[in-house]
Amino acid sequence: MKVLVAGANGQIGKILVDLLQNSGTHSPRAMVRKQEQAEAFKQKGIETVLADLEGTVEEIANAAAGCDAVVFTAGSGGKTGADKTLLVDLDGAVKTMEAAEKAGIERFIIVSALQAHHRENWSEAIKPYYVAKHYADRVLIASPLNYTIIRPGGLLNEPGTGKVTAAENLTRGTIPREDVARTIVASLNEPNTYRRAFDLVSGDTPIADVLKTI
Ligand SMILES: NC(=O)c1ccc[n+]([C@@H]2O[C@H](COP(=O)([O-])OP(=O)(O)OC[C@H]3O[C@@H](n4cnc5c(N)ncnc54)[C@H](OP(=O)(O)O)[C@@H]3O)[C@@H](O)[C@H]2O)c1
Repeated sequence: MKVLVAGANGQIGKILVDLLQNSGTHSPRAMVRKQEQAEAFKQKGIETVLADLEGTVEEIANAAAGCDAVVFTAGSGGKTGADKTLLVDLDGAVKTMEAAEKAGIERFIIVSALQAHHRENWSEAIKPYYVAKHYADRVLIASPLNYTIIRPGGLLNEPGTGKVTAAENLTRGTIPREDVARTIVASLNEPNTYRRAFDLVSGDTPIADVLKTI
């Protein structure tokens, strides 16, 4: 599959792009918002496209044209305010869904957050973030797209183990970014993840096996 990665310059995004590039079965198109970011990917032989999630649906649809799947792993990050959370994590995600539909792409994977589907489990300190994740996920579920919603626990910058736990409800846990990226790649062609949503944390079972049992 040719996969558009929205958020390619991010921490999960970079790992994901490399995994796709080396997968032998998929190839990435890295969507970034700055020319210098594009150059860094191009130097590694990775196809890139410039588009801003605060731009138009048309801009994102043009970036996605010809792809077979879209992965949304972007986010405004913890250093900006609730305004950017609304513009990127919510509206940017929904515009990317609209763009996928416009470009005729059915497969769509989004990186959400653990328990985004249950208000009672949202951290008070970052409630606007959970609101953005929750409603982006709900728009995706209501769409005709063939979605997978991956809701990881706290993200760690340590090597992945390739072993995870995934379920409809996991109340706490952490996971290396590398294992989230590996779960995205393994989900792309796994029918058991089609139109499904799950929480994801580190565990004892190989990713491919877990995805067959959720
Ligand atoms: N931190 C956690 O513990 C945690 C837990 C669960 C889920 N998540 C979610 O996991 C996902 C990936 O996390 P991460 O750590 O890899 O994130 P990250 O390193 O902050 O990367 C986010 C990427 O989004 C891009 N982005 C932001 N605004 C954009 C815009 N207007 N147009 C285009 N791109 C834009 C950023 O671009 P620039 O590089 O140009 O800034 C950045 O590359 C996020 O959705 C996050 O919410 C995080």
